[in-house]
Amino acid sequence: MSSSAQLKIGDKTYDLPIIEGTEGEKAIDISKLRDQSGFVTLDIGYKNTGATQSGITFLDGELGVLKYRGYAIEQLAEKSTFIEVAYLLIYGDLPTTKQLTDFQYEISRHTLVHEDMKKFFDGFPSKSHPMGQLSSLVCSLSAFYPESLKSNQTKEELNLSIVKMLSKMATIVSWIYKKSLGHPVMYPQNKYDYVTNFLNMTFGQLTEDVVIDPVVVSAMNTLLILHADHEQNCSTSTVRIVGSSESNIYASVSAGISALWGPLHGGANQAVIEMLEKIKEDGGDTDKWINKAKDKNDPFRLMGFGHRVYKNFDPRAKIIKKACDDILEKLGINDEVLEIAKRLEEVALKDPYFVERKLYPNVDFYSGIIYRALGFPTDMFTVLFALGRLPGWIAQWKEMKQNKEPIGRPRQIYNGAVNREYVEIDKR
Ligand code: CMC
Repeated sequence: MSSSAQLKIGDKTYDLPIIEGTEGEKAIDISKLRDQSGFVTLDIGYKNTGATQSGITFLDGELGVLKYRGYAIEQLAEKSTFIEVAYLLIYGDLPTTKQLTDFQYEISRHTLVHEDMKKFFDGFPSKSHPMGQLSSLVCSLSAFYPESLKSNQTKEELNLSIVKMLSKMATIVSWIYKKSLGHPVMYPQNKYDYVTNFLNMTFGQLTEDVVIDPVVVSAMNTLLILHADHEQNCSTSTVRIVGSSESNIYASVSAGISALWGPLHGGANQAVIEMLEKIKEDGGDTDKWINKAKDKNDPFRLMGFGHRVYKNFDPRAKIIKKACDDILEKLGINDEVLEIAKRLEEVALKDPYFVERKLYPNVDFYSGIIYRALGFPTDMFTVLFALGRLPGWIAQWKEMKQNKEPIGRPRQIYNGAVNREYVEIDKR
């Protein structure tokens, strides 16, 4: 293949370098195009724009393939743990036993959050959405751990900020849940691994010993692994672009949490369960709701369906659907909305509207049913997505810094008014 592409504008031809990734993806590098020609490219919603070259996650939306650092998601979900996957994403390789033990030890040394932060929890109304709380609390970590503000941190300082971010997030998420119940918070316990510790802080009680069910630990590990990274999605791009101005890790992750909150992104897992509940209350007529989703005059969309990149089955959804059946069976739970979800999927996958647009169930379609079976309330679902996505955000933020990427700053085509004369207020 040629190493450059030619772009002809009028009578001039511009040579644009072709970049090829290790999985054969091809791109035309237009970074010098404006300098050479005066033209920028326009791609609203970045549907066809690569913002970086990254060695973390590969996905092929046409084939339904997802790999972290070269490892297939199916293998990682089956064999690994969340904390091992976090190490893989952040440091690039699967850890040795010693590396994993050291990593877990380091994390366990930083799970406490500053006691003064508890006052923030008291300030939020008890019914405020956990994602708003999470975003604020994560950003305020920068006030308590100001060494993170140094933009030229040494390798050790950077690593410490990364470890603190991972450690404290699980504590904060659990405490948001405890506060929503009006219950006292549970402190981290170093004897537990990351996921068990998180579940113990969430479902443990000061009044009695609660044994965390290994089925729940395993389900949680699987879900967190499946959410751990997904290349340049909306929240990850946000983390990278905020970090590119040399903002600290807490501020960058906090921005990612805000981006994730929306129902078109991570907020879809909450929206799916709310949709399924509504369909159930409405009598469970799935055809009616499929028709609503197809009706262009109706704003209703089938939540948990469709994806910007996957034009085939989302491989995460396949794993989650199976896990959902297994976990509900193991926990002896019969959830009517699972049947509604399966019926919706079956109808949609045969319907020409969904087939032609290549709309398949995504990661959010079945995950909420599992979270609910594990005992989480609906408004915590997106927070759990954030907890899972955290290693990905950290890895991408770190890579952006290591690559010394310039500040992210898209161009625009201005289409507003031209040359207006200022008119005094009394003459308007
Ligand atoms: N229900 C009904 N129609 C849909 C849906 C849906 N869920 N998703 C896309 N379409 C239609 C859309 O109306 C459009 O039709 P037409 O070509 O006739 O105008 C066509 O499919 C293409 O959709 P789009 O909105 O242009 O595609 P996009 O790549 O901009 O959006 C999406 C992707 C995920 C935002 C969208 O599919 C959607 O809103 N899905 C529901 C929300 C959801 O489940 N989000 C979670 C995404 S996966 C996890 C994550 O990223 O966090």
